[in-house]
Amino acid sequence: MAIKLGVNIDHIATIREARKIREPDPVAAAILAEIAGCHGITAHLREDRRHIQERDVRLLRGVVTTHLNMEMAPTPEMVQLAIDIQPDMVTLVPENREEVTTEGGLNVAARIDDLSKSIASFKNNDIAVSVFIDPDTDQVKAAKKAGADFAEFHTGRFANAFDMGASADVEREFAALQDMTVLARKYGLRVNAGHGLNYRNVGYIASIEGIEELNIGHSIIGRAALVGIDRAVKEMLDAIRRAEH
Ligand code: PXP
Repeated sequence: MAIKLGVNIDHIATIREARKIREPDPVAAAILAEIAGCHGITAHLREDRRHIQERDVRLLRGVVTTHLNMEMAPTPEMVQLAIDIQPDMVTLVPENREEVTTEGGLNVAARIDDLSKSIASFKNNDIAVSVFIDPDTDQVKAAKKAGADFAEFHTGRFANAFDMGASADVEREFAALQDMTVLARKYGLRVNAGHGLNYRNVGYIASIEGIEELNIGHSIIGRAALVGIDRAVKEMLDAIRRAEH
């Protein structure tokens, strides 16, 4: 299965919001990333609106021709907004106001009932639902029980271990991601992965049979600041292709 690349364009908005002006526009970045060959665009509308704004997601809905994945916290306000905007998919993530980025997976197991209701309203509105979870048996089971279509595995622990050169931890985290991919697929869930993936570590995750899509933001946008979006996206696609079966 050819792994798809979803480009998270939040950090173009982070640069814009540093000045609170109109540039650079994440919508322009999304168009360029699509022209470079990515398979989807991801944007996280945070409750504090620190980078992506509502206007961005509405415009993205109008211009994205591949696949629009809206990341959001599962709050009543955000659920209503997403149903109004109609992305192709929502990815439910935990949100802490002080965090620099999404720090861990959503604890689906702890709130199956209320998540099931939100997930059902998305599905009634033809929006696919992914839950961003840690590679953990209980969370996979809960994702299935809550009615999600996809589990996106948080690869942050793997990426941190890789960065520190901690080979035993890398092996453990890699094995967890592999095993949980097998389990999720056994339950009929489709599998995506992301967080902390970069040009050096992406090959490992792209080699896992059964993962459909990788969502990558910081490393692509960081590289794009130096070499341009077109090259940054194409180099990531090459790194993924080299690792595939
Ligand atoms: N997937 C999800 C659900 C995320 O919340 C994020 C971070 O916004 C990413 C993927 C991308 O992570 P990174 O910016 O580290 O590539």
